[in-house]
Amino acid sequence: MKLFVKTFGCQMNAHDTARIGEIMLRAGYSLTDDPREADVALINSCTVREKAWHKAISETGRLRLLKSRSREVVVGIVGCVAEQEGARIFALIPGVDLVVAPDHYAALPALIEEVRRERSPRAITGFDAGGAGDFLCADAARGGGSPLAFVTVMKGCDERCAYCIVPTVRGPERCRPPDDIVGEVRALTANGVREVTLLGQKVNAYRFGSTDFVALLERLDATPGLERLRFVSPHPRHMEPALASLYGRLRTLCESIHLPLQSGASSVLERMRRRYRADEYLEVTERLRTACPAIAITTDVIVGYPGETGAEFEETLGLIDRARFNGAFSFKYSPRPGTPAAALADDVPEEEKSRRLELVHERIERLEREWRSSLVGRTLEVLVVHEGRLAGQIGGRARNGQIVNFPAPGGQGFDRFKGALVEVAVTAVHPHSLKGVAV
Ligand code: 5AD
Ligand code: SF4
Repeated sequence: MKLFVKTFGCQMNAHDTARIGEIMLRAGYSLTDDPREADVALINSCTVREKAWHKAISETGRLRLLKSRSREVVVGIVGCVAEQEGARIFALIPGVDLVVAPDHYAALPALIEEVRRERSPRAITGFDAGGAGDFLCADAARGGGSPLAFVTVMKGCDERCAYCIVPTVRGPERCRPPDDIVGEVRALTANGVREVTLLGQKVNAYRFGSTDFVALLERLDATPGLERLRFVSPHPRHMEPALASLYGRLRTLCESIHLPLQSGASSVLERMRRRYRADEYLEVTERLRTACPAIAITTDVIVGYPGETGAEFEETLGLIDRARFNGAFSFKYSPRPGTPAAALADDVPEEEKSRRLELVHERIERLEREWRSSLVGRTLEVLVVHEGRLAGQIGGRARNGQIVNFPAPGGQGFDRFKGALVEVAVTAVHPHSLKGVAV
């Protein structure tokens, strides 16, 4: 039996897809990249913006076409759209067999079995309590030998930003016991993982008993074999000085952070219910840059939030310059069902949203270009994770998040360097990567 999964959305979803693969492997399935070969075909969906929702629905509709008189294929949708829509999917896309929300992936083999046996669809939604075993753990020995891994430390979100559907589709905040997290990281490093990214919808709000996020990072820093730690996504409101001061101090903590801003106008932030002001956000970025001058700070920006005036938008542009972001994702506001903002008039015209998005792009691109050019001549530590497209080239990620490719020293093969840390002098800037030579 073969499983095909197509994934949309965030790193959390990519991690979930990997775990789904492991669950299905244990149930006797193999994985395929070709939906035409699949016995079970799933879309792991995202609904953070309306476009993502549409994509998930239309891709699921396409998978349904795999079914024919001669071929029985179980077609399903999992992930955030599954939680949002539940059994309504069956009316929306006839022919779908399975709707499984994120907290129920462990039940997938049994649900597929039921669908096959009873020839009727199944939908399972709702949230677990976050107890022991409710966090999907990597099958460390099966990791495929990648030096990179993700580890979930908390799930769900209680923040309730006015525009955001995540609390509805990912449920309330649940934090995982620190011993379990440390245990998973140890198992991964024992199997060749060198860099771990901690996952959580509001990762730096982590707290379990007396262990807060700072204490968790300090504990993980001591893991034998672990070279690098990252986390995604932190909330600016929880970037306390004690956390910022870990940068440049904790051996493993990488010099990069993705810290969603959303808007540079305090008035918009208030309407978004972000619970920080623009100047407080800037204080955090300044604190980070003081603690660690080499840090790369990236962000998310939403343009065209309900009521966003031209002047408020200008404040966002101003803050982008002052924060000197090293990169960003920017989005047009998109109303999501059931969110407080969806009750407001989506009153910034589409063309104006496009214009604002373009202006944000330009600003960010200029800052990113300047920063990346400034890296030429510097030496960066690269964790080797891939073979380059050109013969003899290898590459990986620097601690600041940049992809760096370089000729394998001594003409040796990729296998010799996979998972190694190599000091690389940057010689050139390409659109999606840096080029360098090992020193
Ligand atoms: N409209 C536009 N962008 C959104 N995001 C979240 N919800 C919305 C929405 N309703 C963006 C935020 C968040 C990123 C993951 O997606 O910038 O940080
Ligand atoms: Fe998309 Fe948010 Fe779900 Fe991630 S958590 S898949 S970004 S809706």
